[in-house]
Parts: sequence; C-alpha cells; structure tokens
Amino acid sequence: MNLAIIGHPIAHSLSPKLHEQWLRASGLFGRYEAIDAAPDELSTLIEAMRDGGWDGFNVTIPYKEAVIRYLDELDDAAKLAGAVNTVYKRDGQLIGTNTDGAGLVQALMPFTDFTGRVLIVGAGGAARGIVQALPTRNVTIVNRTVERAKVLADTFGVAYTTFDEVDISRYDVVIQTTSVGMDNQSTPLSLEGLRQNTVVCDIIYRPLITPMIREAEHRGAVVVTGVGMFVGQGALSFEKWTGVKPDETIGKKLIEGLLE
Ligand code: ATR
Repeated sequence: MNLAIIGHPIAHSLSPKLHEQWLRASGLFGRYEAIDAAPDELSTLIEAMRDGGWDGFNVTIPYKEAVIRYLDELDDAAKLAGAVNTVYKRDGQLIGTNTDGAGLVQALMPFTDFTGRVLIVGAGGAARGIVQALPTRNVTIVNRTVERAKVLADTFGVAYTTFDEVDISRYDVVIQTTSVGMDNQSTPLSLEGLRQNTVVCDIIYRPLITPMIREAEHRGAVVVTGVGMFVGQGALSFEKWTGVKPDETIGKKLIEGLLE
C-alpha cells in the first residue's frame, strides 16, 4: 500500500503515524507519506495515482476543494460537503469522498443515538461536512455571521440562530467546528445553562483539551475531544483503501499520547 496525505503545510500532520500504525497492526506492507505539495503539483500527484504509483490519498488544507477537478467522480458525502478529504480507486476510476463528517458521527455514536437536539457551532466548511453526515435533521446552526448560518441551514433544511439568542440548555449534543479555542484562550459561546450529560464535542485537537472542553467537563458534560473525529475520519479512509477496519482504540491512544 502506497498512501499519502497531500497538503500545505503538512509537517505537523499526525496522519502518517496513525496510518502507519494501522498498516503494521493489519499486517499490510506499505507506507504513508506526508507530501507538502505546491498547487501546481496536485495534478501530477493525482495522475501518479491513476498510473498505479499510489493507492490512495488523504487531502487536507488548502486542497480539499482544489483536488475535485482532477478526479473522475465524487460520492454523495463529497458532493454534499463540497470538499474531498480522501481519494481512492475503484475500477480504474479515481473517486473522491469525504470521511470527516461520518468520522465524527462514528466517534459520537457511543455517547448519543442522535434522537435529541444537535447544536452546530460554526457555519464554515467543517460545519458543512458535519451537517451533511448527521443522521438527524433536528439540528440548529449558530454562527458569528448569521447570514452564513442561514445559508448552511437552508441548504440542509435545518434551523439556525444567533449567539445572542441560542439557549444551550435545549441541546443534547453540541459540536464546536470553528477555530475558536486553538489559542487555548477562548470559547465561541457561553456554556451557561448547559445540562449535565449533554454531549459536547470540539473538533479542535490542538490543544487536546480546549477551553470549551474544559468548561464542559467542569459542568458535567460528556466530552469528546477532536481526536475522536481525527481518528474516525482516518479509520473510514483506511477502510476505503485497504478493505480493513482498523482498531480505533489503539489509534486514539497513539494520537492522544502524541498530543499530550
Ligand atoms: P473551516 O473550513 O475550518 O470551517 P471556514 O470555512 O473559514 O473554515 O469557517 C470558519 C468558521 O469559524 C466560521 O463559522 C467562522 O465564523 P464566521 O462565519 O462568522 O466568520 C468561525 N470563526 C472563525 N473565527 C471566529 C471568531 N473569532 N469568533 C467566532 N467565530 C469564528
């Protein structure tokens, strides 16, 4: 198996460690490289995959949309997300999918059956990828720029609100998708009134414990860090390429160890 992640910058990507552990644990020979690609190298890399030089790619910032024009087909997840994080081959065709949202849903499955209300914080590309994958439309989007919340909400037939109006006590699951918290200082919204046992998930994993996760834990919430989504999306990509379901528990332990 010749696998890689393509992005820029890519030096701090944890994907090579995750996938190389899974390759070894699955008894598969192979490698998973991090390729720091310039924009004009994208098409060459994709052609190399077509010619058999690579078996699969992850695609990350800033190429999740730019890669689409070089692929033969997108699956529904990629179409709905408007972005590709995984490229695999079927019958000689290069297919783009997006495992980010489904990876997060998989990470949340042990804690919720998604029968309650879900609050999505943020309305950018990450939020879109998640909303399209949720197994419920009992969803509300809250965003700083309310117009963006409305556009995303209307696309998927869900509700939207503002930070001023949101009542956090109404939700059973809260998913934080913005970049707020990466500085380890700020939270995008107040958790005042959060009910105990609400599932609170932040997709940020650097820092591993964001201010929001820390406060949610303090208030008795069930917290899921960004490692859940990271490992979940990786596992779904690995399965597409190899046909093997990797062990997410060992993946999670490895990544948490590297981030602590
Ligand atoms: P991504 O692909 O990571 O989702 P994006 O499409 O640029 O990136 O979206 C960034 C999200 O983070 C948006 O929801 C953005 O809110 P706006 O639509 O109002 O810009 C949110 N965001 C970024 N910085 C923020 C901040 N300081 N406070 C609140 N929300 C912020």
